[in-house]
Amino acid sequence: MVVPESQEKMYDPPNNLQRDAHVPDFDSYQAMYRKSLEDPEAFWKEIADEFFWKKPATGPMLQYNFDVSKGNIYVKCMEGAKTNMCYNVLDRHVREGNLGEKVAYYWEGNSPGHHATITYRQLLSHVCRCANVLKQMGVKKGDRVSIYLPMIPELIYAMLACARIGAVHSIVFAGFSSESLSERIMDAQSSVLITADGVYRGEKLINLKHISDEALEKCREKESCSVTTCLVVKHHSMRTISGTSCNKLQISWDSQRDVWWDEAMADSPEECEPEWLDAEDPLFILYTSGSTGKPKGVMHTVAGYLLYTSLTFKYVFDHHLDDVYWCTADIGWITGHSYIAYGPLANGATSVLFEGIPVHPHVGRFWEIIEKYKVSKFYTAPTAIRLLMKYGREPVQKYDLSSLRILGTVGEPINAEAWQWYYEAVGHGRCPVVDTYWQTETGGHVLTPLPAATPLKPGSATFPFFGVEPSILSEHGEELAGEAEGYLVFRRPWPGIMRTVYKNHERFENTYFKKFPGFYVTGDGVRRDKDGYYWITGRIDDMLNVSGHLMSTAEVEGALSLHPAVSEAAVVSRPHKVKGESLYCFVTLKNSIDFNKTLEDELKKLVREKIGPIATPDFIQNAPALPKTRSGKIMRRILRNIARNERDVGDLSTLADPKVVEELFSERSEAAA
Ligand code: WT7
Repeated sequence: MVVPESQEKMYDPPNNLQRDAHVPDFDSYQAMYRKSLEDPEAFWKEIADEFFWKKPATGPMLQYNFDVSKGNIYVKCMEGAKTNMCYNVLDRHVREGNLGEKVAYYWEGNSPGHHATITYRQLLSHVCRCANVLKQMGVKKGDRVSIYLPMIPELIYAMLACARIGAVHSIVFAGFSSESLSERIMDAQSSVLITADGVYRGEKLINLKHISDEALEKCREKESCSVTTCLVVKHHSMRTISGTSCNKLQISWDSQRDVWWDEAMADSPEECEPEWLDAEDPLFILYTSGSTGKPKGVMHTVAGYLLYTSLTFKYVFDHHLDDVYWCTADIGWITGHSYIAYGPLANGATSVLFEGIPVHPHVGRFWEIIEKYKVSKFYTAPTAIRLLMKYGREPVQKYDLSSLRILGTVGEPINAEAWQWYYEAVGHGRCPVVDTYWQTETGGHVLTPLPAATPLKPGSATFPFFGVEPSILSEHGEELAGEAEGYLVFRRPWPGIMRTVYKNHERFENTYFKKFPGFYVTGDGVRRDKDGYYWITGRIDDMLNVSGHLMSTAEVEGALSLHPAVSEAAVVSRPHKVKGESLYCFVTLKNSIDFNKTLEDELKKLVREKIGPIATPDFIQNAPALPKTRSGKIMRRILRNIARNERDVGDLSTLADPKVVEELFSERSEAAA
């Protein structure tokens, strides 16, 4: 497969990082990587020694079976050990590490006037009080607690309180509908729901309490509702300045069930002995969409997740204690769990916790916040970069971004143009861009550059992290060596990999281990180039086979995005009588550019030039906007429906803006009629 040349340009790590970097050069990376595979026991033991264990492990650092033909799939880390996540990320720093007065979070609200600073000592005190509140409500080790909160400090308090008492948190992104929330509560059978009255997201007021009431009502309609207590944070009415907007929020109250957070916390004691858990006890469940219907409750466990999120955070962001780190994700997704909460806290990091959105009250908000807190490590998503790129460099140049040292991206392949813009306009060519590939299931980064060590190629997640052994398989399950393209799989576990699908181990085995026995199957396609770099080519279900040629939608999208008129592109497969499949492309154009035949021809020519004639798009249609989930992921299933003119598009409840779908049907390419 031909790669657009601009993606082949290599960037050496800037020297300003190397002096005090944890992994200063590529040779050091290779040596450590080799050790992590050759002697995983010694490698992980050394990492574990940095943490607190109430009882040492009796079993090895890692035990597993990845082969369905040899029995049940399992992964175990440090069997026999007893510990507590919350103790390790808070008490350890405050009691042993002298970090009590260090800032854990700078909270920055949706409106620029709202902010708060929380030290490690304060965080520990809030968490213990919340833990006591939960205990008071009857929550015990192993019980599930659903959390439906915006990005406010209470979300961190609540999740760590669960971790402290051994309750299993199930955080549901506060942009999900009542339907999705109820589905997740029912699957987890949670006894407590923690929510807030309401929240502003940008200009939009969202009545979270009302959505929560609806969700609990839906649980009751379907079965008896497991939630006996609903703990409600007074966020909207406490932290909203404008009195009139407060009145817009109508809240109903069930005095048998609902409890105000502040009232419950008021006289809750600050001392709370952590529950000492087994290394393999569950820490949390996080639901992720499955290719068939029902979301999967991805389960992570205490010890392995602690070791892995902590280690990846330290190395991938080359963490030092004087850093100010900011990950713009929402804690409702795995990125927030691993790289806003657990990973940074395990390292005693200082983070920004941001409630708002990138374009409110102005499109320079991200850059303003970086300047305000002197952020040194910044982690965001390609979709956010492409959004901000549309407004040009001027809003970026207004702010002093000289504090930045490392930039990161996550969530999808980053196209060369967005990478370049991030690197130059935001990083001024001084900051490496760590393109981190991972999944809810992997718990932490699995393919990623290390900032001072790895020469970068824009669009490549480069090489495996320590302990991770990737392989590329053909359709028939043969391992492909050297330059190759196929299925991305892993042949052994690392401590942070998921352990099961909650209450459905069979689904876990079928989804990830059945297709190729002996391997964890990511569901992504990958290409290894002549230098051994890995390039994620998109989900396997987004792989296309045109006239016998395997190609990825992401590659075609990358080529389309190189055109100066294009702000974003998405490509799906459309059945074709002769070629098997054909390429149907959606393009969103930059502000005020019109879609026309000339542009269409230019785009086709560009793809042909960049990838080859086999990748020539069959259809290109204008897309004023793309159908995206609230986390910014393009819903390709819907695009496939539009490409095929199938009007029955199914469930749209996870879309940020369902109107987009109608608009796209009306803009369908004439040629495809
Ligand atoms: C899927 C996992 C991992 C946190 C956010 C998403 C895609 C993720 C990259 C990347 C190319 C990426 C993959 C993966 N993906 N990061 N750097 N380059 N693709 O978590 O919702 O579990 O999604 O996101 O397709 O399988 P998730």
